[in-house]
Amino acid sequence: MKNVLVIHYSQSGQLTEIVNNIVSPLTSDAIQVDYHEIKMEQPFPFPWKEKDFYGAFPETYQQIPQKVKPISLDILNKKYDLIILGYQIWYLTPSIPINSFLNTTDAKKILKNTPVITVIGCRNMWIMAQEKMKKKLLDLEANLVGNIALVDRHINHISVITIAKWMMTGKKERYLGIFPKPGVSQKDIDEAGKFGSILLKHLKENNFNNLQDAFLHANAVKIKPFLVLTDKRANILFSKWANLIQSKGNKNSKKRAFWVKFFSYYLLFAIWIIAPIVFILFLLTYVFSIHKIKKDRVYYSSVKYIE
Ligand SMILES: Cc1cc2nc3c(=O)[nH]c(=O)nc-3n(C[C@H](O)[C@H](O)[C@H](O)COP(=O)(O)O)c2cc1C
Repeated sequence: MKNVLVIHYSQSGQLTEIVNNIVSPLTSDAIQVDYHEIKMEQPFPFPWKEKDFYGAFPETYQQIPQKVKPISLDILNKKYDLIILGYQIWYLTPSIPINSFLNTTDAKKILKNTPVITVIGCRNMWIMAQEKMKKKLLDLEANLVGNIALVDRHINHISVITIAKWMMTGKKERYLGIFPKPGVSQKDIDEAGKFGSILLKHLKENNFNNLQDAFLHANAVKIKPFLVLTDKRANILFSKWANLIQSKGNKNSKKRAFWVKFFSYYLLFAIWIIAPIVFILFLLTYVFSIHKIKKDRVYYSSVKYIE
């Protein structure tokens, strides 16, 4: 008998649907699948109000945990053969709910010496967040054996518009009837079961050594070099912005609210003005960076962590 635990959190239900489809091939007499849905003591709103959406930035980026509801004793006292950890990215960082959960003593207990597969459902910027996740799992002495990242496949600027609309309205619909649907496509969500079939084979053999290679053959991850570059640069700037906003007082302070607003304008400027310029520079220097790009592609597709 194998025991698998699925840990998940999702505001819209998208990530929950993805992990459910991934585990569907595992349901058999020989495998017991348990679920833990992360619940915040103070839930985040969905749909978001603009002020809360941007206001969540400093604490998300600085990975400051908040209170989560405890895990059930049945789960806590069990030893799992595999944990599937579904998470979304907020501001290039694992979301506050997932980060808060990973900071609990419960998480420490169940993740220690346990194989883990991370499942990401996000817009498209997950690379550096996964590096943060790799480090966190290493600190928890968990053993990362696989990663699946499902993203919005539309071009970057289109997905910025459609996801923002989705987050503010709560409706995963075609904006104005002309934009594509936001988020991970229904086709990719429906086909996520293919990863479960791969997983099943490795779980039965009790050998996860080549799991990530098998996932990669099934397109579990697609690395886009320009997004890697943007993600790294934006992390440097986000760290300065997060410190600046934090220094302006607590969440109720007017000064902080002013700087959060300013940050929201800066984000628009960065997305619509800076990013296209960086993209042109990226294209111009592409041939000189091919070696680095190839190396990055291998590393960021893998479950290895190099500090
Ligand atoms: C506050 C906030 C910030 C986000 N930042 C990012 C980001 O940096 N990169 C990204 O790819 N997606 C980002 N997203 C999209 C989420 O990763 C995710 O796709 C979306 O919230 C739907 O997830 P759900 O399963 O919780 O509904 C962000 C979403 C929110 C709410």
